[in-house]
Amino acid sequence: MRQVPIKSPGIPGMRDSMTSRLARTVGSARAAYADTRDAFYCALSREMFAYASDPCVRQWYDENRAISMWNAEPLCAATALAALAGAPALEIGAYVGGVTIALCRGIEAHDKRTSRSLSPREPVPRLISMEKGGSHTAHPRLPSSDILADWRRNLEEFGFSGAVHLIEGNFGADANVRECANRLNGAKLNLLCIDADGKVDWALNHIARHLAPGAVVIVDDYASSMFDDKSSITRPVVDRLCELGYLERWGLLSGQTWVGCTGADIAKLGFNSVFVTRARDQTEISIGPARRSRARNVFLRWITTRRGASGVMTPG
Ligand SMILES: C[S@@+](CC[C@H](N)C(=O)[O-])C[C@H]1O[C@@H](n2cnc3c(N)ncnc32)[C@H](O)[C@@H]1O
Repeated sequence: MRQVPIKSPGIPGMRDSMTSRLARTVGSARAAYADTRDAFYCALSREMFAYASDPCVRQWYDENRAISMWNAEPLCAATALAALAGAPALEIGAYVGGVTIALCRGIEAHDKRTSRSLSPREPVPRLISMEKGGSHTAHPRLPSSDILADWRRNLEEFGFSGAVHLIEGNFGADANVRECANRLNGAKLNLLCIDADGKVDWALNHIARHLAPGAVVIVDDYASSMFDDKSSITRPVVDRLCELGYLERWGLLSGQTWVGCTGADIAKLGFNSVFVTRARDQTEISIGPARRSRARNVFLRWITTRRGASGVMTPG
């Protein structure tokens, strides 16, 4: 990772000292608790206390918050989770890079705490971000007329432009699914963060086989009074995957963002076992001919055997 000064003016070496501070916080939480969930809540409470009491920590997170749709608590959580879990990590729906920066900071602290140094040519990216781009000029606080250009500029300003592999376009497009698999090259993800269009089932169908058992999973818009269009499709899917043991719930951040981890059998979740996508909703996602006929068969099974509102089926 290229060491350039982070944005904070007049505080030389701040990035290094803040990364070391985070590495110590997460390292001591990890040492105190064998269970990752317990270590996470310990680290998060310490980060939130530092945010409230230490002006440098507040500035660090506030600079991050200024380029994110997320508020301080989930940003602290994403940073701490990445510092606990480490790379490789995948983010789906990056917008202008707020959570991307949080994950980069966390992964950098993870590498510091585990004394891992970045080799000049990393075979597997530490973080992959998938973002379709376009514009969102109507956002009240954080409008963007060119999402991908703003993402690149923010990554540059925070000194992480070389640390992330960006896959541009729809996360479900065949070429992008393939590129993600090629980039991972068999490595298992330790962290997945989904904050895109609410179609978590579609995302997990593609990604499940790349997830390590016990990998950290963050899903935004699990519950939201403002974005009911997303939470109404996200929540039933996540709940059903928890019932089936593919996901394990840790809790909710700011009453909206789901945090948990993958179950032991996560790799078995996919097209041929548990199909969770509402195929009729996937209007903007391209799927290849082979998958299309499989999707159609499974969809036909889904409409004849569906349970409740979730659209999630049991295996077989
Ligand atoms: C809520 S925003 C993400 C906010 C971001 N986490 C932050 O820190 O501010 C959702 C993003 O997902 C992207 N997105 C939505 N559907 C997508 C898709 N099918 N493929 C890739 N990106 C998508 C949107 O372009 C948008 O930038």
